[in-house]
Parts: sequence; structure tokens; C-alpha cells
Amino acid sequence: MKVTVRAVPALSGEIRPPGDKSISHRAAILSSIGRGQARLRNFSEAADCAATVECLRCLGVDIEQIENGELAINGAGREGLREPEETLDARNSGSTMRMLAGLLAGQPFLSIITGDSSLRMRPMERIIRPLSLMGAHFLARGDGSRAPLAIRGGSLKGISYELPVASAQVKTAIMLAALFAEGETIIREPVASRDHTERLLGSMGARIKAGRGLIRLEAGNLSALDLEIPGDISSAAAWLVAGAIHPQARFRAIGTGINPGRTGIISVMEEMGARIVVRNERVVGGEPVADIETSSSSLEGVEISGDRVPALIDEIPLIALAACYARGRTVIKDAQELRFKETDRISATAEELTKLGGDVAELRDGLIINGTTKLHGAFCDSHGDHRIAMMAAVAGLVAEGQTEVNNAEVAGISYPGFWDEVRRYQLCD
Ligand code: S3P
Repeated sequence: MKVTVRAVPALSGEIRPPGDKSISHRAAILSSIGRGQARLRNFSEAADCAATVECLRCLGVDIEQIENGELAINGAGREGLREPEETLDARNSGSTMRMLAGLLAGQPFLSIITGDSSLRMRPMERIIRPLSLMGAHFLARGDGSRAPLAIRGGSLKGISYELPVASAQVKTAIMLAALFAEGETIIREPVASRDHTERLLGSMGARIKAGRGLIRLEAGNLSALDLEIPGDISSAAAWLVAGAIHPQARFRAIGTGINPGRTGIISVMEEMGARIVVRNERVVGGEPVADIETSSSSLEGVEISGDRVPALIDEIPLIALAACYARGRTVIKDAQELRFKETDRISATAEELTKLGGDVAELRDGLIINGTTKLHGAFCDSHGDHRIAMMAAVAGLVAEGQTEVNNAEVAGISYPGFWDEVRRYQLCD
């Protein structure tokens, strides 16, 4: 699908971002091994979460799709999964593959999990290593670290493991395996990453202690969740950035999750001088939530590195776009993980912003952007990556002239209503 986006003279609106993708994956997986019926409201309709749901169904889990984005999952407890007849397909979703690998590591049967061509290129050694140390058996393609993965699980023992790279997916994979392991599992993270799994486990009655980058977890039964899933800040980010860089704009993103492991976009925008206001803070589904407003701002360049990166890793393409409209230079470092996402997001961001007239240079582990304050329309491509598609669309709403986004449908990987939302602000083809 190719979408043409034209610059619009003014942009404003209220957005209800879709249910959080990270929380939806976790809530579905944990509910599958919980006891009794879980009700998950505002469950993400993203293609990635649909992949997780389909894989869980292949493992024998009874999942009902109820109207209004509600899911009912009839968990049969920790021994309720069955060996899948078919190869599990995580499609484009790294979260699905990595988190399910942790779940499957705990099962006394054989599973094979694969994904699309992008996912089959992504590194899996980061989960294979700790899960093998716990006692699971893996076979993988290539140098032993690429999907498809064949997993024979069961008979796990707890480990003490220090994550070499902050990764909430890897941390979650180990926690899921720990629910089936003998003894305690201890995980240390170099930088605290999003703690959705820890929060959900806590509310399901798991024997978990977590805080300050240290997690201790033991096997145990989980009770069913009754959960309202907050809006996804990574989806809201498109509108927050659009609001800040467009000269006549105002957006409010209602019910947006503000888990401290995700709010790097807010603090960076504040530091850049964006008019951003966080209102009406509350707790929804055990997670902090707020309404976030942005409006046309005069931005300055910023330096981002080190411990700040994990809390804004998915928003870096949008931050780079904002940096094109900022005075001065923006330097983003220590973000080498971006090279292992759905595409190499460092090079894809640089390539697409350059087409739009941005002054962007690649670093091994990041980007340098010299703000120019004026981009022009261009022929852009998503590189098969939802976050790049959305960055190009937001650029198109602001850049002079018209922008084409090729392979635009991939936005649905995380934000199914994204293009409808864009169409609300203009008539695009
Ligand atoms: C995610 C963690 C991050 C993030 C991804 C979702 C999660 O990945 O980039 O989009 O839900 O745990 P890593 O764990 O690879 O850092």
C-alpha cells in the first residue's frame, strides 16, 4: 500500500492511542497459564499481538475475542498447554518470538517457532543463552542464533543472570521460564527497562520481588487478570511529535501509559523545549496513565546517550524527525540496538530523513542531526518497519509539499488505526 500525505495548514485533535502492545503481549501470555478466565479490555489489535494470540491458540489456549477490543482468556494453569501440531508463527514480532521462547522453555514438549524474513534475521542468541542455562534445549538456524527455533523444554532450574544488554523482552523470557523452574531465578539489568511483566506478575500473585534493576522470582500459580490495558505511548508519540513540530498544532493523547521505562520521549521533548503537559495522572491496570498534550514548539537540539536510551528506544526515529526541526545539533549515541529491530532503524531513519531534506548522519551506534527547520515532501519507504512508516507519515504532514509512503500498511504492526487517524487530518490517497 502506498499512501500520499500532504502538508496541512493546521493539525489538532484528541487521540486515544490503541492498547499498549507491550502490555497486551504479556497479559495474553501470562493469562494463558493463569487459573481461570482473564478479561483483558482495550487489548491491542496490532498485528504483532494477533501473532501472539494465534501462537497461544496453537498451544491449546482457549481465547475468545469479545466485542470492543476485549479478550477473554480461559487459562488452564501452568500445566494447561499442549504440544503444538504446527510450527508457531510469530510473523514480524520479536516480542512474540522472544517471550514465547521463555514460555516454551518451561514446557515438557517440542515446539518450533518461526517468523517472517525480517524476524528470521534478528538475533535470538540473547534468549537462547539464558534459557539454555536454565536447562532448555534449542536448535536454531545459521550460526545457532536465528529463527526458526526448535525448543524442547521442561526440567528447568533457576539461574542468577546478568543481562548483557538492557532488554525487556529478554528479561520477560527469563521470567516466564522462571515460572516453571525449580528454585529461585535472579535477574540483573544494566539499566532498568520497562517493568510491565513484573507489575502483571505481582498482580497475579506470583512470588516476585522487583526493583532497581534486580528481580527475584520463584515458580508458582497465577490468578486470572481483570485488566484495562492503557494506551500505547509509543503510538501516541507520533502525535506528540507532530504536535510539537507543526507550526499550527495541538494534540492531546488521552489515557496514555506513562510507565517510567517508556517515558523517555516525554523527557527528551521537554529537554528540547517542547510544550508538553502531562495531566490527569492516574493508575489503570496497575500502570501509571495520563493525558499528554503538546502544541507547536520551538525546539533545540539535544544529546541522548547511555542509560536514557532504553526508555525511548522505539521513539528514536520520531525524535530524529523532531531534531530536523530543532535549532542546532542533536546527537543520539549508545543506540546500537536499533540496528537489530524490524529493520536497521539507524540506517533507515537516516535514509528516509535525508530524502526529506534532513541533514542526518549515521553513527555506528546512533545518529547526528543538524536541524534545518524545513523538510520537503519525498518518496519514502517504510523498509517494512512500522515505526519508519509512521515517522515518514508525520514528516509528510509537516514537510512542504507531498510525501509518498511506500509499504505503508506495516503501520498496523503496532497501530492498526494509524492511517485512519492521518486521514482525519487530511484527505490522503
Ligand atoms: C519491548 C522491548 C524493546 C522494544 C520492543 C518492545 C517489550 O525491545 O524495542 O519494541 O515489549 O519488551 P528489547 O527488549 O529488544 O529492548
